[in-house]
Amino acid sequence: MNSTRSRSDSILPSDDSKREYVRNMFDDIAFRYRLMNSLLTLGLDGWWRHKTLIAMDLKPNSLVLDLACGPGEFSKLLAQQGHRAVGIDFSLGMLRQSAGSSVINGSPTKGSIAKDSAAKVQGDAMSLPVATNSCDALVCGFAVRNFLNFDKVLAESTRILKPRGVAAFLEVSTPTNPAIYRLHNFHFSTVVPLIGGILSSKTAYRYLPASVVYLPETNVLIRKFYRYGFTHVDRRTFTFGATQLFLAHKRDI
Ligand SMILES: C[S@@+](CC[C@H](N)C(=O)[O-])C[C@H]1O[C@@H](n2cnc3c(N)ncnc32)[C@H](O)[C@@H]1O
Repeated sequence: MNSTRSRSDSILPSDDSKREYVRNMFDDIAFRYRLMNSLLTLGLDGWWRHKTLIAMDLKPNSLVLDLACGPGEFSKLLAQQGHRAVGIDFSLGMLRQSAGSSVINGSPTKGSIAKDSAAKVQGDAMSLPVATNSCDALVCGFAVRNFLNFDKVLAESTRILKPRGVAAFLEVSTPTNPAIYRLHNFHFSTVVPLIGGILSSKTAYRYLPASVVYLPETNVLIRKFYRYGFTHVDRRTFTFGATQLFLAHKRDI
């Protein structure tokens, strides 16, 4: 992936501290996360999530894990469509922003789940408190670059999915058209830190655009999906390549 930044950028934490850094950062920006997302993407984030769910082509009443759910935008859409969604995130601050749902701290116990909303569980994507072969599908929005170890997340994803279950990972991307790239780069590296810094957190909205350097090249990512038990791996992009969606199915065993 092209990037004008390097991993030596001082805003990026070292591998040792990344997990705590990311969790604290999302706790800090949770209160305005949804607003900032809509503002900084001009509302496109909702459309990208909508397109993701269409691409997943879920069977009615599917049990879907919303991995690194944040305030639960995917969970909300899934519940509205009649699916059984469970959101997992390690930031309690983000989970608390999900309106009307019960937060189950640490383990998937039998909490009372508000009507029309999904259950939320505090947990780590690298070690999921979810039974093996239990979920019909998994969706993950804008978290791949924030994970300390994506290999572990993929291994956990195939473990908890039923055979042939579908996984969808939505992430930011870099447009390949030079004119669009320049516009996108200006927005991402100048507008996002400026507006984010004024309305939320200076440090976080410098980290978020810079963290694209954590994303492996597309072909490396695709190989990882196959390595961890997925098949039919498909990548598509939205909005001139501003975001990318990886869709994959767990191998039938
Ligand atoms: C950019 S936010 C995305 C939130 C939401 N999925 C969305 O579509 O807006 C990234 C989320 O990943 C979560 N996260 C990062 N690493 C995680 C991990 N190892 N386990 C669980 N959650 C994690 C953060 O707490 C944060 O809520």
